[in-house]
Amino acid sequence: MPGLSGPSDYSQEPSRHPCLHINAKEPFNAEPPRSALVSSYVTPVELFFKRNHGPIPLVDDIERYCVDISGLIETPKKLYFRDIRMLPKYNVTATLQCAGNRRTAMSITRKVKGVGWDVSAIGNAVWGGAKLADILELIGVPKLTSCTQSGGKHIEFVSVDKCEEENGGPYKASIPLSQATNPEADVLLAYEMNGEPLNRDHGYPLRVIVPGVIGARSVKWLDSINIIAEECQGFFMQKDYKMFPPSVDWGNINWNTRKPQMDFPVQSVICSLEDMQSIKPGMVRSLCIHGFIKVRISGYAVSGGGCGIERVDVSIDGGKTWMEATRFQKTGIPYIADGISNDKWAWVLFELTVDIPQSTEIIAKAVDSAANVQPEKVQDIWNLRGILNTSWHRVHVRIGHSNM
Ligand code: MTE
Repeated sequence: MPGLSGPSDYSQEPSRHPCLHINAKEPFNAEPPRSALVSSYVTPVELFFKRNHGPIPLVDDIERYCVDISGLIETPKKLYFRDIRMLPKYNVTATLQCAGNRRTAMSITRKVKGVGWDVSAIGNAVWGGAKLADILELIGVPKLTSCTQSGGKHIEFVSVDKCEEENGGPYKASIPLSQATNPEADVLLAYEMNGEPLNRDHGYPLRVIVPGVIGARSVKWLDSINIIAEECQGFFMQKDYKMFPPSVDWGNINWNTRKPQMDFPVQSVICSLEDMQSIKPGMVRSLCIHGFIKVRISGYAVSGGGCGIERVDVSIDGGKTWMEATRFQKTGIPYIADGISNDKWAWVLFELTVDIPQSTEIIAKAVDSAANVQPEKVQDIWNLRGILNTSWHRVHVRIGHSNM
């Protein structure tokens, strides 16, 4: 593609924030410390997790960069960056979550395959760009179309990065045409993140944002769009990011039996405390009174498909009793699940201040607006690729000066 190219090695990687925990160096995969996620509703770009499958592409000439749109439509078209920027611009606040978030914890019960992640393969950003529905309308596919006249039912996004899993080919993924042409689904071709042009790590010059869906479908460094009859046949749609039952292992897997994962389930995580943390009076906003310690517990909760968060329950006695945490998004606006002033694609942050005893297990679990609840045990949702670990989030803490 003129203007944008994918290098074959890692000699031209961008610089990154030193606070990031690096889970894999090449390709670069890193997440911020837990506490960074609850420091602000919108995650700063430099602390946003970075999930890559190859070297980061480079733009040599933004004037020549364009997206090729072809496939099962009457008239294929090339859209230049300036054409896309001329379309009405939308800002959508959406949480991007990698399906592999919390994978490391899933591996503790039984080993899973994939890059290990703690709880921060997730972030919330304001994405600015054109709606895919407007772009498709421009090339003759009307809003709310589920099948084009020539039988197109899916929109495939193709990048330029060179991925080992694709034998050196580009990363690609698809979404249904009905979602792509629905303006309410807010699918964007984004060129901004938090009000700044996208940086290289996050897809400069243009990426797809599919709100409410696992991050794997939000293709970065967009090169072409194909309107196709069947969903994308690429590795990351067909041989990865699928949810299998605990009985399936590498000896008996049949990839064709499952659909590619799209929406993510309800999730919540405590971010103000590390697991096995020793709390000294004065730390993590704590205060010691009569042997108990007052601690502020905070974290994030999110659900896929645009579902709101109905409740976040916190237990300080290992799940015997529960207390409801306060939820919030924007300051000054009370959060009501599925309320019209919500950012429907974004996480909610929660907090609760409680007195905890000497040594305890603190748990968080969320309920979404469709009354879906996180599963209690990771064993029940174990799957060989270690995706979608949404089991109750537990941290063990104790009051003291030494590590547990
Ligand atoms: N797009 C391309 N071209 N290459 C990739 O490796 N990774 C995907 C998605 N889009 C990927 C991609 C995955 S698995 C995730 S979770 C998100 O990008 C991560 O986006 P981020 O790095 O901006 O946080």
